[in-house]
Amino acid sequence: MVLILNGPNLNALGKREPQIYGTLTLSDLESLCEAYAAELGTDVTCRQSNFEGQLIEWIQDAEGHGFTGIVLNPGALTHYSYALRDAVAGQPLPVVEVHLSNVDAREAFRQVSVTAGVCLGKVSGFGPLGYRLAMEVLLERL
Ligand code: DQA
Repeated sequence: MVLILNGPNLNALGKREPQIYGTLTLSDLESLCEAYAAELGTDVTCRQSNFEGQLIEWIQDAEGHGFTGIVLNPGALTHYSYALRDAVAGQPLPVVEVHLSNVDAREAFRQVSVTAGVCLGKVSGFGPLGYRLAMEVLLERL
């Protein structure tokens, strides 16, 4: 089972800067991830929080609850949250970082990820398909 975590402001997908993030809502994105998972022969649990501490607790608690890996879109926390980085680094499950937009083609601050260095890698710029690619990477490692 893959744990999909979406961070701050991703609950506003659909109405938030659709020219950048597309028109799918979070609920649409989560349904799509469930469909991707079914195609790949796995299950997903999807969660979203605007709170750094909640994301950290979900990451800390993932091991031992049947999860084999984590797909993480940390939103803007990507660019400055050492606490989130430490949470990823301090637990054993493989984590793939995902961004809907191509963060490397945007503002300079978005081109820095403090979290990617403790993840298996980063998928950025492919919209919802990035979540599927991240799941494929995690399943390949099993
Ligand atoms: C994002 C990119 C971040 O820079 C931004 O703060 C987000 C969304 C993405 O999915 O493209 O909230 O993670």
